[in-house]
Amino acid sequence: MSASPSAIESVLIENRVFPPSEETVKAARISGMEAYEALCAEAERDFEGYWARLARENVIWTKPFTQVLDDSNAPFYKWFADGELNASANCLDRHMGTEVEHKTAIIFEADDGAVTRVTYRELLKRVGRFANALKAQGVKKGDRVLIYMPMTIEGVVAMQACARIGATHSVVFGGFSAKAVQERAIDVGAVLVITANYQMRGGKELPLKSIVDEALAMGGCESVRTVLVYERTSTPWNRVQGRDLSFAEALEGQDADCPPVSVNAEHPLFVLYTSGSTGKPKGVQHSTGGYMLWARQTALWTFDLQDKDVFWCTADIGWITGHTYVTYGPLAAGATQVVFEGVPTYPNAGRFWQMIERHKVSVFYTAPTAIRSLIKAADSDDKVHPKNWDLSSLRILGSVGEPINPEAWMWYYKNVGGERCPIVDTFWQTENGAHVITPLPGATPLVPGSCTLPLPGMAVAVVDETGHDLPNGAGGMLVIKRPWPSMIRTIWGDPERFKKSYFPEELGGRIYLAGDGAVRSEDRGYFRITGRIDDVLNVSGHRMGTMEIESALVAKTDLVAEAAVVGRPDDVTGEAICAFVVLKRPRPEGEEAQQIAKELRDWVAREIGPIARPKDIRFGENLPKTRSGKIMRRLLRSLAKGEAITQDTSTLENPAILDQLAQTN
Ligand code: WTA
Repeated sequence: MSASPSAIESVLIENRVFPPSEETVKAARISGMEAYEALCAEAERDFEGYWARLARENVIWTKPFTQVLDDSNAPFYKWFADGELNASANCLDRHMGTEVEHKTAIIFEADDGAVTRVTYRELLKRVGRFANALKAQGVKKGDRVLIYMPMTIEGVVAMQACARIGATHSVVFGGFSAKAVQERAIDVGAVLVITANYQMRGGKELPLKSIVDEALAMGGCESVRTVLVYERTSTPWNRVQGRDLSFAEALEGQDADCPPVSVNAEHPLFVLYTSGSTGKPKGVQHSTGGYMLWARQTALWTFDLQDKDVFWCTADIGWITGHTYVTYGPLAAGATQVVFEGVPTYPNAGRFWQMIERHKVSVFYTAPTAIRSLIKAADSDDKVHPKNWDLSSLRILGSVGEPINPEAWMWYYKNVGGERCPIVDTFWQTENGAHVITPLPGATPLVPGSCTLPLPGMAVAVVDETGHDLPNGAGGMLVIKRPWPSMIRTIWGDPERFKKSYFPEELGGRIYLAGDGAVRSEDRGYFRITGRIDDVLNVSGHRMGTMEIESALVAKTDLVAEAAVVGRPDDVTGEAICAFVVLKRPRPEGEEAQQIAKELRDWVAREIGPIARPKDIRFGENLPKTRSGKIMRRLLRSLAKGEAITQDTSTLENPAILDQLAQTN
């Protein structure tokens, strides 16, 4: 497990409890712990009845379901399998003729501060027109469309348009490399790519289209017939004749009215790639019906969204958080939300606070890594401290992506929330589709650093290696014992890997293994996530497989003989990537070592994306191995942290390499 001992200690002494104010409880959708417990009891008493009720309340079905859970082919569970719906109609059409029709759906703030607003009605028209443009390019129900877009209204429109015609989207984060785009386009069999000429981040114009060109030129992507290019800036882009069209060209003459295509509840709404402990990223396949149910319900419960709220989730649409809490959940809930193109530190580290004041944001959802970096900035420059802005519109704060340390929690609570706003520390994963463990703002007493209790119906537990429940206070593996509607359906094209990764035989083959360690508190049974128990790192809330980075390093065949990657704690990014490398030439020192380290960092950034750039690179003549040749990762983790080696090293062939590997470049 990756949590540092000091972090664990500071959480263990955590005994502050923050109950919600009476006022918050009174106004909330789930009002008080009794209401929460009543829902849990309902799910316990009549599991299928509970989910069926929520499915009817949250989803507009074009054909009602008669079946709830089908576990006949477990762990390939099906939910509401004979029901039909359309996800885009569930976000847009449902609001027509209601008060929401002319409400602002999206307040878009560009990198340079320019603001654009669209109402639900306008958004529906834009999605309809775009959906017709996709149809005109021959995209049909069941086809896969790869989206490589900046944070823009157009990015949301592109996803919604795919959903509208029953095409399955696969969004690739705009920070990923050409290689990553190519691998995903091949794996998912994309027929069309939606991208932008450039993206604007922190005042810089960064290319997207040319990366798509590079990816498609690498070969293997012959399924891609068309590339649609959103002209975000006026900078020209290179057109491949017969393949590329600008948005303006594709949209010309298209009608804004596009009837939503009814799909089966199990129809794949999207495939989103995420890192696992082995091999290439996995294409996590989600359903339409079960996903939409939980995306909407959790948006309403966890964020307690009310008519007047202005919601802002800072996640990029390239991640699951952007899928569920930008593109689908808030729209299905009829909320007004902020979509932000830029970065939190441009033009200065007060940007988030300035935007909260400007748009009167009332529910704000971000990642611990952003909070920690803004704490650092505020500490060194008083002018970007949140106290300089009027944040009184805020009523609920959220956190996602990694454990939030109690110190950061307290700062967020005091300096952003004015000691008035509950913080919902939401634990979940790409595979879960939506929230799993989280406080409810009008019910749950909060404990800093704890994601508290599972949502009603989520059968979360902490178990040992044999699958037996552990008592409170004992650390073990986090599992989900019963299926839930928004769960991963399979790994795209690899059902065997799906079974092995998430429903291991050792646990009986029916229990979902999250891959995280957890412990429940002695007093309240509250969950605390202690970090991944597999070889997945969490850097700034981004999942990275150590194997992926190792493969990228050894792919530099002219230079690298062997590489091992581990994580080490980092104050701002949570974890940092530390790579131990054996070169095909004598071990470098001094300036040469620094130069090669830089070359390798840039290489990894090109192979995977800048987020995978190793922070530390260390060179050795060898890696520490057991007699059977297995790399001793425990030793590497100690070295990465700068700890003295206390483990038994008698089995090492060459203990001197430990001194080499302790040296940083
Ligand atoms: C981690 C992001 C502690 C965890 C939604 C999980 C968290 C991985 C929390 C999933 C949290 C996410 N507290 N850890 N509140 N939220 N994690 O798939 O290790 O990008 O397994 O989904 O992030 O990352 P993913």
